[in-house]
Amino acid sequence: MKIIKLKDYEAVSQRASEFIIEQIKHKPNTTLGLATGSTPVRLYEKLIEAYEHKEISFKDVKSYNLDEYIGINRNHPQSYYQYMHKHLFSKIDMKDEHIYIPNNDIDQLEENAKKYNNALNKSFIDLQILGIGSNGHIGFNEPGTPFGKETFIVELDEQTRKDNMRFFNSLSEVPKYAITMGIKNIMRSKCIILMASGIEKADVIYEMIHGSVTEDLPASVLQLHPNVIVIVDEQAGSKL
Ligand code: GLP
Repeated sequence: MKIIKLKDYEAVSQRASEFIIEQIKHKPNTTLGLATGSTPVRLYEKLIEAYEHKEISFKDVKSYNLDEYIGINRNHPQSYYQYMHKHLFSKIDMKDEHIYIPNNDIDQLEENAKKYNNALNKSFIDLQILGIGSNGHIGFNEPGTPFGKETFIVELDEQTRKDNMRFFNSLSEVPKYAITMGIKNIMRSKCIILMASGIEKADVIYEMIHGSVTEDLPASVLQLHPNVIVIVDEQAGSKL
């Protein structure tokens, strides 16, 4: 694992954007793995700036999102489908047919998970962006998830639902289930960049890097991946 500790959220976003921009310049038909949550918002703004300045084009880029809530439909403002269109896709030249986000259609969940997994397995993610949950989840792989899992339906942890309550009006509105890439899918990526900022991530970042590799802290599996870059700000990296 390569650890990069920078001053603040802005610097973390800047450095992560530089990796992605370089990757797309080097390989215009790059396949990205994309994350949601608060952490990558500024990164996406920086990618949009690079596109607007004609530094890069996304016309041949493909992307796979990590996860999607179940129980709210795609048009709900907090669906990850809406998040991705709002923060990135509506502002760049990605082709609709190159955008993969797990389909949360309630009638066909298992089938959709299988389809998403097949698409993922036919492709190869060059660069996967990750955030990290305060309980160590990546994507929505909650503590206890076997490392061998591929795309599946997950019941969200109480901690995760509480953490994500800030995006909803109340805890009861936060979805209880999600569809997520599994750890095995994430570990197939050629390169992984995990970003974290803020003091509330300090403990989990320490454990992910220095703790034992355990399914109780899903992100610890990244210690076994040959090409992981962890970019943290001073607060998230304060225990390192
Ligand atoms: C969410 C997402 C993750 C994200 C994590 C941290 O629930 N499923 O992909 O990395 O939690 O979110 P944040 O960046 O808002 O702290």
